[in-house]
Amino acid sequence: MTQIEIIKALSDNYIYVLHNPINKQTAVIDPGEAQPVIDLLEKKDWNLSHIFNTHHHNDHVAGNQRLVNKYNCKLIAPKYDQNNIHNCDHYVLDGDEIDIIGQKANVLHTPGHTIGHICYYIENLKILFSGDTLFRLGCGRIFEGTFEQMKSSLDKIINLPDDTLVYCGHEYTLSNANFCKSLIYNNIKDLDASILEIKNLRNQNKPTIPFFLGQEKKLNPFLRYNDVNFKIANNVEKLNSTETFKYFRKLKDNY
Ligand SMILES: [Fe+2]
Repeated sequence: MTQIEIIKALSDNYIYVLHNPINKQTAVIDPGEAQPVIDLLEKKDWNLSHIFNTHHHNDHVAGNQRLVNKYNCKLIAPKYDQNNIHNCDHYVLDGDEIDIIGQKANVLHTPGHTIGHICYYIENLKILFSGDTLFRLGCGRIFEGTFEQMKSSLDKIINLPDDTLVYCGHEYTLSNANFCKSLIYNNIKDLDASILEIKNLRNQNKPTIPFFLGQEKKLNPFLRYNDVNFKIANNVEKLNSTETFKYFRKLKDNY
Protein backbone atom coordinates (compact mmCIF):
# COMPACT_ATOMS: atom_id res chain seq x y z
CA MET A 1 0.00 0.00 0.00
CA THR A 2 1.61 3.22 -1.17
CA GLN A 3 1.47 6.04 1.37
CA ILE A 4 1.18 9.60 0.06
CA GLU A 5 2.05 12.60 2.21
CA ILE A 6 1.24 16.18 1.22
CA ILE A 7 3.72 18.90 2.18
CA LYS A 8 2.83 22.58 1.94
CA ALA A 9 5.80 24.54 0.66
CA LEU A 10 6.72 28.10 -0.35
CA SER A 11 3.59 30.25 -0.56
CA ASP A 12 1.13 27.86 -2.19
CA ASN A 13 3.07 24.88 -3.56
CA TYR A 14 2.46 21.26 -2.77
CA ILE A 15 5.23 18.67 -2.61
CA TYR A 16 4.20 15.01 -2.55
CA VAL A 17 6.11 12.25 -0.82
CA LEU A 18 5.31 8.63 -1.73
CA HIS A 19 6.44 5.70 0.38
CA ASN A 20 6.30 1.99 -0.28
CA PRO A 21 6.48 0.16 3.07
CA ILE A 22 7.29 -3.16 1.37
CA ASN A 23 10.41 -2.20 -0.58
CA LYS A 24 11.11 0.84 1.66
CA GLN A 25 11.51 3.14 -1.34
CA THR A 26 10.46 6.76 -1.00
CA ALA A 27 9.93 9.28 -3.78
CA VAL A 28 9.26 12.98 -3.83
CA ILE A 29 7.42 14.81 -6.57
CA ASP A 30 8.54 18.39 -7.32
CA PRO A 31 10.54 19.42 -4.25
CA GLY A 32 10.39 23.19 -4.59
CA GLU A 33 12.36 23.33 -1.38
CA ALA A 34 14.34 20.66 0.46
CA GLN A 35 13.91 21.40 4.16
CA PRO A 36 10.24 20.45 4.60
CA VAL A 37 10.95 17.20 2.72
CA ILE A 38 13.91 16.44 5.00
CA ASP A 39 11.77 17.22 8.06
CA LEU A 40 9.06 14.79 6.95
CA LEU A 41 11.54 12.04 6.03
CA GLU A 42 13.21 12.32 9.43
CA LYS A 43 9.89 12.26 11.23
CA LYS A 44 8.81 9.14 9.32
CA ASP A 45 12.27 7.56 9.33
CA TRP A 46 12.13 7.20 5.53
CA ASN A 47 15.12 7.29 3.21
CA LEU A 48 14.64 9.19 -0.05
CA SER A 49 15.30 7.02 -3.10
CA HIS A 50 13.88 9.08 -6.01
CA ILE A 51 12.97 12.61 -7.07
CA PHE A 52 10.49 13.14 -9.92
CA ASN A 53 10.06 16.55 -11.54
CA THR A 54 7.13 17.64 -13.70
CA HIS A 55 8.79 20.77 -15.15
CA HIS A 56 11.73 23.07 -14.73
CA HIS A 57 10.18 25.96 -12.77
CA ASN A 58 12.17 26.82 -9.69
CA ASP A 59 9.26 26.32 -7.29
CA HIS A 60 9.23 22.66 -8.40
CA VAL A 61 12.93 21.84 -8.62
CA ALA A 62 14.82 24.14 -6.24
CA GLY A 63 15.15 21.40 -3.60
CA ASN A 64 16.56 18.81 -6.02
CA GLN A 65 20.27 19.32 -5.49
CA ARG A 66 20.23 19.45 -1.72
CA LEU A 67 18.15 16.27 -1.57
CA VAL A 68 20.44 14.48 -4.05
CA ASN A 69 23.48 15.53 -2.00
CA LYS A 70 21.94 14.37 1.25
CA TYR A 71 20.29 11.11 0.18
CA ASN A 72 22.18 10.18 -2.99
CA CYS A 73 18.75 9.60 -4.55
CA LYS A 74 17.98 9.28 -8.25
CA LEU A 75 16.63 12.29 -10.15
CA ILE A 76 14.05 11.77 -12.91
CA ALA A 77 12.89 14.67 -15.10
CA PRO A 78 11.45 15.40 -18.55
CA LYS A 79 13.93 14.99 -21.39
CA TYR A 80 12.45 18.13 -22.93
CA ASP A 81 13.82 20.07 -19.92
CA GLN A 82 17.35 18.68 -20.08
CA ASN A 83 18.80 22.15 -20.61
CA ASN A 84 17.06 23.40 -17.48
CA ILE A 85 17.19 20.42 -15.10
CA HIS A 86 20.77 19.25 -14.74
CA ASN A 87 22.47 16.21 -13.18
CA CYS A 88 19.51 14.02 -13.97
CA ASP A 89 19.88 10.23 -13.70
CA HIS A 90 17.03 9.43 -16.05
CA TYR A 91 15.26 11.68 -18.56
CA VAL A 92 11.77 10.56 -19.56
CA LEU A 93 9.61 11.10 -22.64
CA ASP A 94 5.93 10.97 -23.53
CA GLY A 95 4.62 7.41 -23.40
CA ASP A 96 7.48 6.10 -21.28
CA GLU A 97 6.56 3.46 -18.77
CA ILE A 98 8.58 3.97 -15.62
CA ASP A 99 8.76 2.63 -12.09
CA ILE A 100 7.77 4.88 -9.20
CA ILE A 101 8.75 3.08 -5.98
CA GLY A 102 7.44 -0.24 -7.24
CA GLN A 103 4.40 1.08 -9.12
CA LYS A 104 4.19 1.22 -12.88
CA ALA A 105 3.68 4.80 -14.06
CA ASN A 106 3.10 6.43 -17.43
CA VAL A 107 4.67 9.66 -18.54
CA LEU A 108 2.31 12.09 -20.29
CA HIS A 109 3.94 15.00 -22.09
CA THR A 110 1.66 17.97 -21.44
CA PRO A 111 3.23 21.07 -23.04
CA GLY A 112 1.61 24.47 -22.56
CA HIS A 113 2.56 25.83 -19.15
CA THR A 114 6.11 24.95 -20.17
CA ILE A 115 7.24 23.21 -23.34
CA GLY A 116 8.69 20.29 -21.43
CA HIS A 117 5.98 19.74 -18.84
CA ILE A 118 5.06 16.14 -18.02
CA CYS A 119 2.51 14.47 -15.76
CA TYR A 120 2.94 11.13 -14.02
CA TYR A 121 0.00 8.73 -14.11
CA ILE A 122 -0.07 5.62 -11.93
CA GLU A 123 -2.90 3.51 -13.32
CA ASN A 124 -2.90 0.88 -10.56
CA LEU A 125 -3.37 3.54 -7.88
CA LYS A 126 -5.61 5.69 -10.12
CA ILE A 127 -3.58 8.80 -9.36
CA LEU A 128 -2.20 11.59 -11.52
CA PHE A 129 0.51 14.06 -10.58
CA SER A 130 -0.50 16.95 -12.79
CA GLY A 131 2.14 19.54 -11.84
CA ASP A 132 1.09 22.92 -13.21
CA THR A 133 -1.00 21.56 -16.09
CA LEU A 134 -4.29 20.91 -14.27
CA PHE A 135 -5.37 22.55 -11.02
CA ARG A 136 -8.61 22.12 -9.13
CA LEU A 137 -11.09 24.32 -11.04
CA GLY A 138 -8.22 25.73 -13.08
CA CYS A 139 -5.25 25.05 -15.31
CA GLY A 140 -1.72 26.35 -15.62
CA ARG A 141 -0.91 29.64 -17.25
CA ILE A 142 0.53 29.30 -20.72
CA PHE A 143 4.08 30.56 -20.41
CA GLU A 144 6.07 28.67 -23.05
CA GLY A 145 3.62 26.75 -25.19
CA THR A 146 0.55 27.65 -27.24
CA PHE A 147 -3.15 27.49 -26.43
CA GLU A 148 -3.41 24.63 -28.94
CA GLN A 149 -0.69 22.67 -27.14
CA MET A 150 -2.27 23.22 -23.73
CA LYS A 151 -5.68 22.13 -25.01
CA SER A 152 -4.14 18.96 -26.49
CA SER A 153 -2.42 18.33 -23.18
CA LEU A 154 -5.72 18.65 -21.34
CA ASP A 155 -7.25 16.23 -23.89
CA LYS A 156 -4.80 13.60 -22.65
CA ILE A 157 -5.95 14.19 -19.08
CA ILE A 158 -9.65 14.19 -20.01
CA ASN A 159 -9.13 10.72 -21.46
CA LEU A 160 -8.13 9.32 -18.06
CA PRO A 161 -10.84 7.63 -15.94
CA ASP A 162 -13.22 9.73 -13.84
CA ASP A 163 -12.11 8.06 -10.62
CA THR A 164 -8.53 9.27 -11.08
CA LEU A 165 -7.34 11.26 -8.06
CA VAL A 166 -5.38 14.33 -9.13
CA TYR A 167 -2.49 15.77 -7.15
CA CYS A 168 -1.56 19.17 -8.57
CA GLY A 169 1.28 21.59 -7.91
CA HIS A 170 -0.50 24.48 -6.21
CA GLU A 171 -3.29 25.44 -3.85
CA TYR A 172 -5.06 27.86 -6.19
CA THR A 173 -8.50 26.36 -5.72
CA LEU A 174 -10.30 29.20 -3.95
CA SER A 175 -9.20 31.88 -6.42
CA ASN A 176 -10.03 29.51 -9.28
CA ALA A 177 -13.48 29.08 -7.75
CA ASN A 178 -13.98 32.85 -7.80
CA PHE A 179 -13.23 32.89 -11.51
CA CYS A 180 -15.70 30.03 -12.06
CA LYS A 181 -18.36 32.10 -10.31
CA SER A 182 -17.83 34.86 -12.90
CA LEU A 183 -18.92 32.41 -15.64
CA ILE A 184 -22.38 31.03 -16.31
CA TYR A 185 -22.86 27.50 -15.06
CA ASN A 186 -25.66 25.34 -16.41
CA ASN A 187 -24.89 23.13 -13.39
CA ILE A 188 -24.49 25.88 -10.80
CA LYS A 189 -25.76 23.70 -7.93
CA ASP A 190 -22.88 21.28 -8.44
CA LEU A 191 -20.38 24.15 -8.53
CA ASP A 192 -21.80 25.75 -5.39
CA ALA A 193 -21.73 22.44 -3.51
CA SER A 194 -18.12 21.98 -4.49
CA ILE A 195 -17.20 25.54 -3.46
CA LEU A 196 -18.84 24.98 -0.08
CA GLU A 197 -16.67 21.91 0.44
CA ILE A 198 -13.58 23.83 -0.72
CA LYS A 199 -14.28 26.71 1.67
CA ASN A 200 -14.75 24.30 4.57
CA LEU A 201 -11.40 22.69 3.84
CA ARG A 202 -9.59 26.03 3.52
CA ASN A 203 -11.20 27.35 6.72
CA GLN A 204 -9.57 24.40 8.48
CA ASN A 205 -6.31 25.12 6.63
CA LYS A 206 -6.59 21.74 4.86
CA PRO A 207 -5.57 21.13 1.23
CA THR A 208 -8.31 20.92 -1.39
CA ILE A 209 -6.13 18.27 -3.02
CA PRO A 210 -6.38 15.54 -4.16
CA PHE A 211 -9.56 15.78 -6.22
CA PHE A 212 -11.46 13.48 -8.55
CA LEU A 213 -10.99 14.02 -12.27
CA GLY A 214 -14.63 13.12 -12.98
CA GLN A 215 -15.82 16.06 -10.89
CA GLU A 216 -13.36 18.35 -12.71
CA LYS A 217 -14.70 17.29 -16.09
CA LYS A 218 -18.08 18.63 -14.94
CA LEU A 219 -16.90 21.80 -13.18
CA ASN A 220 -13.50 22.95 -14.45
CA PRO A 221 -14.08 25.53 -17.21
CA PHE A 222 -10.78 24.54 -18.85
CA LEU A 223 -12.00 20.96 -19.33
CA ARG A 224 -15.41 21.89 -20.75
CA TYR A 225 -14.47 22.99 -24.28
CA ASN A 226 -16.51 20.09 -25.70
CA ASP A 227 -19.42 20.57 -23.30
CA VAL A 228 -22.25 21.94 -25.45
CA ASN A 229 -24.48 23.07 -22.57
CA PHE A 230 -21.65 24.97 -20.89
CA LYS A 231 -20.67 26.56 -24.20
CA ILE A 232 -24.25 27.67 -24.90
CA ALA A 233 -24.56 29.11 -21.39
CA ASN A 234 -21.46 31.22 -22.00
CA ASN A 235 -22.34 32.18 -25.59
CA VAL A 236 -19.38 30.40 -27.14
CA GLU A 237 -21.23 27.58 -28.90
CA LYS A 238 -19.93 28.80 -32.28
CA LEU A 239 -16.31 28.34 -31.22
CA ASN A 240 -14.50 25.05 -31.78
CA SER A 241 -12.96 23.29 -28.81
CA THR A 242 -9.52 24.93 -29.08
CA GLU A 243 -11.05 28.39 -29.54
CA THR A 244 -13.28 27.74 -26.54
CA PHE A 245 -10.33 26.75 -24.39
CA LYS A 246 -8.45 29.87 -25.55
CA TYR A 247 -11.46 32.07 -24.77
CA PHE A 248 -11.71 30.87 -21.16
CA ARG A 249 -7.93 30.88 -20.62
CA LYS A 250 -7.69 34.49 -21.85
CA LEU A 251 -10.63 35.52 -19.68
CA LYS A 252 -8.84 34.04 -16.67
CA ASP A 253 -5.53 35.71 -17.60
CA ASN A 254 -7.29 39.06 -17.42
CA TYR A 255 -9.54 38.25 -14.49
FE1 LIG B 1 5.19 26.11 -13.02
